[in-house]
Amino acid sequence: MTPPALRFYVHVPYCSSRCGYCDFTTYVPGESGRGSPADWRGGAIAEIRGARRQWGAAAGPVSSVFFGGGTPTLLPPTDLGAVLDAIATEFGLVDDAEVTCEANPETITPELLDGLLAAGITRLSLGMQSSDAGVLAVLDRVHSPGGAVRAARLAQLAGFHRVSLDLIYGTPGETLDSWRRTVGTAVESGVSHVSAYALKVESGTALSRKVDQGLVALPDDDHAAACYEVADDLLSGAGLPWYEISNWAIPGHECDHNLGYWAGDDWWGIGPGAHSHRSGTRWWNVKHPTRWLTEVTAGRDPRAGEETLTAEQRRTERTMLAVRLAQGFSPTDLVPARGAELARSLTQRGLVEPTVGDQVRLTRRGRLLADSVTLELLAWPSPLGDCRPVRGVRSERSSRIEAKDPPSAG
Ligand SMILES: C[S@@+](CC[C@H](N)C(=O)[O-])C[C@H]1O[C@@H](n2cnc3c(N)ncnc32)[C@H](O)[C@@H]1O
Ligand code: SF4
Repeated sequence: MTPPALRFYVHVPYCSSRCGYCDFTTYVPGESGRGSPADWRGGAIAEIRGARRQWGAAAGPVSSVFFGGGTPTLLPPTDLGAVLDAIATEFGLVDDAEVTCEANPETITPELLDGLLAAGITRLSLGMQSSDAGVLAVLDRVHSPGGAVRAARLAQLAGFHRVSLDLIYGTPGETLDSWRRTVGTAVESGVSHVSAYALKVESGTALSRKVDQGLVALPDDDHAAACYEVADDLLSGAGLPWYEISNWAIPGHECDHNLGYWAGDDWWGIGPGAHSHRSGTRWWNVKHPTRWLTEVTAGRDPRAGEETLTAEQRRTERTMLAVRLAQGFSPTDLVPARGAELARSLTQRGLVEPTVGDQVRLTRRGRLLADSVTLELLAWPSPLGDCRPVRGVRSERSSRIEAKDPPSAG
């Protein structure tokens, strides 16, 4: 049997400033102590060598690498290149491996882009969020409204064929017209991939404190649903059909790395707070860069904890992920005893449509009610009386990292 693909997620836990909505493991200058950006490269390479010792000679080659953050483009591209080389040396890379780098628009220059290409990056994912100055201000983004599109064009000119833009909807103060302009601007930029997520108010963030104090008001679920419909209309109309509930791409430009997460592949997460998965066991690294660096440079495993999923948990996860994909799913595979009956019922209610064989996929109405469809598959029979619109659950996001420790930790 062919072993599942092996993938690497590489976490760069530094940002020049913190956005008030974000709880990713990331530190701004002065917060990370030892374990600062200058130390990161050596730590990451040490962890990759440790991964090889643990995983043995049989693992590999690697089919995708994803440099995420934080802001990977705060580091010299040669650091990212050295880490990629270490992965290639230890595990091998398949010929057409997808190598993504997340980037903040304000960090993009022609020189940086040339450096990223020379380092082996093949795909760029830019955090645009919005083209509305007021929305960007609420999100504490430091780039200008046109900054992301400018960065995307520079990337295309430099020779990146795969550029993605991340968008956020449901920010306090955003109107449907402003969101429509944001999506329209993303479409006009000519990128081949767009992700659009509902803003999630994470506890402990500056945004959640403002919400709790009544300083900003969140839009209601109807606004989120209307934003989703606008995004789906404009993106699919421009030749980027949905391939996962929150992701649209020109066919052939889907993110292979994230498709791997959603398919349950194995991946190793390198860096502070990074999560890993192998054959149903998940583990996660210590979050603070100082503690992480101390562990990996001493040749120790930096893991902070691990869990092995029960059969029931694996079924739940498989169902949640499968339902979200446009490639469709087989209700009979997911619920052997009642699959056909369930497929009929979901189809009659306009929540799924048939694709090939016994496969179905969510209709747009089904995507808006995806959480409820998932619950129904997991606990048939269950009434759909409490349908709630999907809030853009970030399934790939929760796979890779956790919220950071307080700056003093470690
Ligand atoms: C963690 S960032 C890393 C990349 C880069 N630093 C950036 O901001 O674009 C990856 C994506 O997650 C999104 N994100 C972070 N927190 C979020 C939240 N609470 N709700 C929705 N999206 C979020 C960011 O806006 C960004 O597009
Ligand atoms: S959203 Fe991106 S830039 Fe903002 S704090 Fe989070 S990781 Fe850093």
